[in-house]
Amino acid sequence: MTFPALRDLVEDLRHARPALWAGRSEGARSTHSIDAAQVQQAVQRFERFAPLLAQLFPELQVSGGRIESALLHVPQMQQALQLPEQLGRLWLKADHSLPVAGSIKARGGVHEVLEYAEQIALQHGLLADGDYLQLASDAARAVFASYQVAVGSTGNLGLSIGVMASGLGFKATVHMSADAKEWKKQRLRARGVQVVEHAGDYAQAVAAGRALADQDTHCHFVDDEHSLSLLLGYAAAAPYLVAQLAENGIAVDETHPLFVYIPCGVGGAPGGVALGLQQAFGPHVHCFFAEPVQSPCFMVEMLAGAAALPGLEAHPSVYELGLNNQTEADGLAVPRASELAADVVRGFLGGVFTVEDETLFRHLCLLKDREGLQIEPSAAAGFSGPRALLESVAGQDYLQRQKLLPHMANATHIVWTTGGLFVPDEEYARFLARGRDLLN
Ligand SMILES: Cc1ncc(COP(=O)(O)O)c(C=O)c1O
Repeated sequence: MTFPALRDLVEDLRHARPALWAGRSEGARSTHSIDAAQVQQAVQRFERFAPLLAQLFPELQVSGGRIESALLHVPQMQQALQLPEQLGRLWLKADHSLPVAGSIKARGGVHEVLEYAEQIALQHGLLADGDYLQLASDAARAVFASYQVAVGSTGNLGLSIGVMASGLGFKATVHMSADAKEWKKQRLRARGVQVVEHAGDYAQAVAAGRALADQDTHCHFVDDEHSLSLLLGYAAAAPYLVAQLAENGIAVDETHPLFVYIPCGVGGAPGGVALGLQQAFGPHVHCFFAEPVQSPCFMVEMLAGAAALPGLEAHPSVYELGLNNQTEADGLAVPRASELAADVVRGFLGGVFTVEDETLFRHLCLLKDREGLQIEPSAAAGFSGPRALLESVAGQDYLQRQKLLPHMANATHIVWTTGGLFVPDEEYARFLARGRDLLN
């Protein structure tokens, strides 16, 4: 990116105007390398636990314990977004309907709890004969009950960790930030999870939870800002998506680009998914992360150090740009990105774009009206991606640099809808009414 373009981008960010930053520039490198075998281990861990999960969670019986979502073609939504078919076809990865946790957080959060449970079970000789169903026995649950799993969360990660940890018999504590929705806290308390409310933002809730957990050797703290296990759990989504694309006859190669638009908070969920897809498709997949205009922490992290712009030193927060981190997209209300996720994707990330809250509500409403799908505001952030890419100067520049312009008619655009299954009806009705008002 040229210096004037970068300066304009930072101005847009400071004024909370929607913007797109495109990646894959010369010299962008990751220092962490996570290989495909590590992602495969996460896939296998989910498989080992599947029979146990099917037993513990009745909603998983139909899938044999697999926590997965559909890949849906959404032509009506494509029309509503006014995306011409010559620029590709719009699909949706329906993580808003993921069972157990109701959001993409089911992937990483569940994986980390399972990894911890496996480690404790092995230490206590509970898996001597390799039968994971043993972990539902009274003896195993008594062992798990002497350990605790804790996490700091804006809501959805807490739901996933709390539900899975308490389901296995662990004590579970979730440190919630001020922006966490009340219904998410109630849902956790109903499952016996201890909810600690913090007056501060997400970063403060995480720091407080981490400090408390550090004092207890029987407490495992799921650290959303640094956890490799979480990241691998999200990355494990890729092999299944690869199979879904093949089932639908969708090619991904040099002349059939795949664009994926994923809502981003701290960056673990989209970072993990992008990593898994990168391992599967190499340069032919282009992942773009979506953030609220007031919480563009991942874009800020990508920009830091790229040019010596004042106020953007190493690992900055959105507050340093004069933004307030206030958004209705509670899952994305994060002031500072995960350095791990940022480092992992830096070498291949397609880009990051920002979205106004009003656009989230419009898209939430359009998705209900056109496709009958119910999502939460955070999960709507990806729908602005195709237009941001196709209509902005930075997006066009990216398509040109990547030599994609001649192939756009063959492109597949997947918007990842990341949450919504458990939003209470009254709350969803309010979201819908707000979207409808804005559309009228
Ligand atoms: C619905 C939803 N989408 C996306 C995300 C972003 O995930 P991450 O914070 O790992 O970037 C979250 C985070 O909680 C979420 O709740």
